[in-house]
Amino acid sequence: MRTIQCAADHRSVQVIDQTRLPGQLQWRTLSTLAEVAEAITSMVVRGAPLIGVVAAYGVALALRDDPTDLGLQASCARLIATRPTAVNLQRAVEGVRRAVAEHLPHERAALAFAAAEALTRAEVDACRAIGEAGLPLLQSAWDAKGRRGRLEVLTHCNAGWLATVEHGTALAPIFLAHDRGLPVHVWVDETRPRNQGLLTAWELREHGVPHTVVVDNAGGHLMQRGLVDLCIVGTDRTTAQGDVCNKVGTWLKALAARHAELPFYVAAPSSSVDFELHDWRQIPIEERSPDEVRWLQGVELVPPGSPVANPAFDVTPASHVTALITEYGVFPANSEGLRALRQRTLGAS
Ligand code: MRU
Repeated sequence: MRTIQCAADHRSVQVIDQTRLPGQLQWRTLSTLAEVAEAITSMVVRGAPLIGVVAAYGVALALRDDPTDLGLQASCARLIATRPTAVNLQRAVEGVRRAVAEHLPHERAALAFAAAEALTRAEVDACRAIGEAGLPLLQSAWDAKGRRGRLEVLTHCNAGWLATVEHGTALAPIFLAHDRGLPVHVWVDETRPRNQGLLTAWELREHGVPHTVVVDNAGGHLMQRGLVDLCIVGTDRTTAQGDVCNKVGTWLKALAARHAELPFYVAAPSSSVDFELHDWRQIPIEERSPDEVRWLQGVELVPPGSPVANPAFDVTPASHVTALITEYGVFPANSEGLRALRQRTLGAS
């Protein structure tokens, strides 16, 4: 299943409403710029690659209503402002803008849809390739373990097909490993406050991959007791040095993994790399509403009057990343590795 489908008449896109999962699988129709912007902000759609694709369609839908220069500029600015951390969003919107800007207004919407469709195909292909590139790492870990018991993988957040268009990033090699007969078991961090881990659990259950959901703070304990063989997570923005910015809590997992001498892999398409950014301190960390922490299903958990902060992402420095798994293969998380990856992306374009 794909997370987004464009209507044949180019009047709307349909997306899976991720705020309803894992309880209900419901589709939502987005027809206007406002609806697309709201869907991204409220996390009806989420995950770095997917929000990039949805935003690309958002520009196309906006151009149906207003194809002028001003309309193009305003729609791009509005979509880029929806969420700040994942670089895919900005890149996707800029990509569509570039594809249409030099054309006449009446040609722009059709060109924008074509650009959004091309991006969708590219993201699907990239995620499929990430699965293939990551699989040998899991197979080697399984061999190194003497093929005994299960291969124990820990992941944080949701970097499965829901976060992309198909296949996923961190989950792509896991799905493949399972399909090829590796006895994989996944420890799934719940990922408070938005509980993306429950989406991961849903995806794994649907695919038949053995897994166990744990609270976010259990990871250190599991690693200390030898119950984890390796970690794989996604990233929303990777710097030119190989630092990765992912869902808040990722950094603590990387620290625990380093202490336990476990591999800590990060899987992402090159569309999540910010090749211009060298200083991880400049990554904009999204601060989401305190209400996401304060309230749980209508119940106020936090004492009224106690302030809440809700940073949504953190940075794991390159020194704590064993390797980056991309659609172009596996690269060291350092400036040389990122340069080599950039060369591959330039060669491909
Ligand atoms: O805030 P979200 O749910 O949009 O977070 C993004 C993510 O899905 C994760 O950080 C993920 O691990 C990287 S994107 C595949």
